[in-house]
Amino acid sequence: MKIPDPPYISATEAIQKLQEGQVIGVPTETVYGLAARIDDPKAVEKIFSTKERPFFDPLIVHVASAAEAAKHTAEWPTVAQLLAKEFWPGPLTLVLPKAAHINPMITSGLQTVGVRWPKHPLTEEIINGVGVPLAAPSANRFGKTSPTRPEHVLTEFHRQVPVVDGGVCEIGLESTVVEISGKALFILRPGAITMEMIRECLATHKITIPVERKSSLAAPGNVKHHYMPEIPVVLVTEGSRDQADDFLQKTLPIAASQCVVLDLGTDAALAARGLYENFRRLGQSDAKCILIHQRENQTGQLWSAIWDRIGRAASYVI
Ligand code: TXA
Ligand code: MG
Repeated sequence: MKIPDPPYISATEAIQKLQEGQVIGVPTETVYGLAARIDDPKAVEKIFSTKERPFFDPLIVHVASAAEAAKHTAEWPTVAQLLAKEFWPGPLTLVLPKAAHINPMITSGLQTVGVRWPKHPLTEEIINGVGVPLAAPSANRFGKTSPTRPEHVLTEFHRQVPVVDGGVCEIGLESTVVEISGKALFILRPGAITMEMIRECLATHKITIPVERKSSLAAPGNVKHHYMPEIPVVLVTEGSRDQADDFLQKTLPIAASQCVVLDLGTDAALAARGLYENFRRLGQSDAKCILIHQRENQTGQLWSAIWDRIGRAASYVI
């Protein structure tokens, strides 16, 4: 790919490049995405090669209206419409049976497709301008930390991928992924739209479908060794604080003084927004590992998504 100069591009330039079948970085409220138009197989393939991503990991189709999402699914049940109305544009991906025209490369051969309307004015403008939805995984190399600032995307791909500068991502964690099946809703990946929020929305509309957490093999975002920074993360659970020094010395083996502590504080929104940026920053430091101490008051709501990502990024949990 030609090195753009400057590497930051406007929404208008982004629309043109996407129309030509190029892959570019786009901002969303969750993390930056690596986008291509869904109807150009070569462009979609470029996403996988740029990310060094295996083909078994399905991509999310980004739209700018619920009606557009419905066009790319084979079924659009009432519950999908309700969730879309309540939470879109926003950090929620709905997984539904796919429409026949959706390229199997996007869904990794699955019969379902993930659709999401992201909440970012520039990317909404870009999707509308291209006139075709955009497949967009997080704009990081496979298994690595997701980008929450435009400069993260530039660094990740050695300035080879042009990026639309949409500022710092408001949420900082990837969207909640919910599979809608006939009998239940399954949360495949927790995010800023929590299980409680989804249950409350359904209850308001007197819908009694159960909402459950399900970890899916079809979703590599769910496997370990994802979101990993450049140095190991050690998660110290509440009851294990006294054993931490001993563990570090015996297992790694390093002294606690060689580690850097990432204090998440008590505000979940702030902790989420800064998490990946902290992973990147501390990953570049001289420390030998990142220590995260789990505390009693860091539970509920957004914390489930934060601990999910940290659990997957962690090399050790003690
Ligand atoms: O917030 C986000 O969702 C960001 C921004 C850019 O929109 N995107 C993102 O994409 O996180 P990605 O590719 O890094 O993660 C998408 C995950 C896949 O790894 C998979 O776990 C799940 O979404 N997914 C997508 N389509 C699916 C499907 N048909 N069935 C099950 N899981 C699916
Ligand atoms: Mg990702």
